[in-house]
Amino acid sequence: MEKTTSYQLLDGKTISASIRKDIAAEVEQLRSESKRAPHLCAILVGNDGASETYVASKIRNCKEVGFESSLVRYPESVTETELLEKIREINSDTSIDGLLVQLPLPKHIDVQLVTETIRPEKDVDGFHPLNQGRMVQNLPCYLPATPYGILLMLEHAGLSTSGKHCVVVGRSNIVGLPMSILMARNSEPGNCTVTLCHSRTTDLSSITRTADILIAAIGKPEYIKANMVKEGAVVIDVGIIRIEDASTKSGYRLTGDVDFKEVATKCSHISPVPGGVGLMTIAGLLKNTLRAAKGEVRF
Ligand code: GUN
Repeated sequence: MEKTTSYQLLDGKTISASIRKDIAAEVEQLRSESKRAPHLCAILVGNDGASETYVASKIRNCKEVGFESSLVRYPESVTETELLEKIREINSDTSIDGLLVQLPLPKHIDVQLVTETIRPEKDVDGFHPLNQGRMVQNLPCYLPATPYGILLMLEHAGLSTSGKHCVVVGRSNIVGLPMSILMARNSEPGNCTVTLCHSRTTDLSSITRTADILIAAIGKPEYIKANMVKEGAVVIDVGIIRIEDASTKSGYRLTGDVDFKEVATKCSHISPVPGGVGLMTIAGLLKNTLRAAKGEVRF
C-alpha cells in the first residue's frame, strides 16, 4: 500500500460544536412549545482533579445548549448509604431528566450498586446493566457516552465502517467492551469484524497492525507506536492522561494512548488528544439527556 503522508484530523472540537448547535436548536423548539429545558444532574464525590475538570466541562456544556444542570457534591468520606439515598431522591424528582455519578468513586463505595441504583430511564451515561443489555441486543437504550461519541465522530466524518476490521484495545465496561459490541452490531456505524484486545492478549502489535480502524482505550500514555499501525488506518485515541510538565502553567499536559507524532503520518484519519474523543463524550451525554427529556427511550 502507498505510504500515507497526509492525514485528516478527526476534530472533536468542530464535530461536537455542530452537534451542540443542533441540540440547542431542539431546546429552543421545546421551549417554544412551552416545555421545560432538559435537566442533567451530576454527582461528584471527592476532589480528584481530572473528575473536577470533566464535571465542570459537562455543566458548562449544558449551559451552552440551554439545558438546566445541577451539581451535587460530597466529600470523599460520604457513606454509601447517603449517596444511594440521594440517587433515589433524584430518581423520583420529575424535574430532573438525566443523572450521572462521576467515576471513579472512593474504594468504600460499591460502584456496581451505585450504577444499578440509578433509574435506567435517567441513566444518561448508559452504564446500567439494563441499558448495556439492550445495547447488546440493538434495542432502544442509552448508549454509554464515550462509545456513542465515537460513533457520532465516525458518522460526522463520513467514514464507512461496514466490512472493516476494527481492533479495540482495552476491555473496560465503560469504553472498550461496549465499543467492541457497537462496532460489531448490524448498524452503521457498525458491521465491522471486531477484535477486542486486552492485557492478556499475546503479540498485540501483530493484531493492531491488521486494523482498518484502531480504537485505543487503555489509559497508557503514547503506548500505540507507528510500528503497531497499518498504513492508511483510522485511529481513534480514547486515552486522556495527565502527564507532569513543569513548562505548563497547570504543571501538567494531556496526552493520549497513541504516540500522535509517530502515528499520524501513517493514518488516513486520526483523533487528537486533547480535542478529540473527550469532547465527543460530552456530545454523547448531551444527546442522551435530550432523549431522556423527550422520553424517547421506554423500558
Ligand atoms: N469517568 C470517566 N469517564 C466517565 C464517564 O463517561 N462518565 C462518568 N460518570 N464517569 C466517568
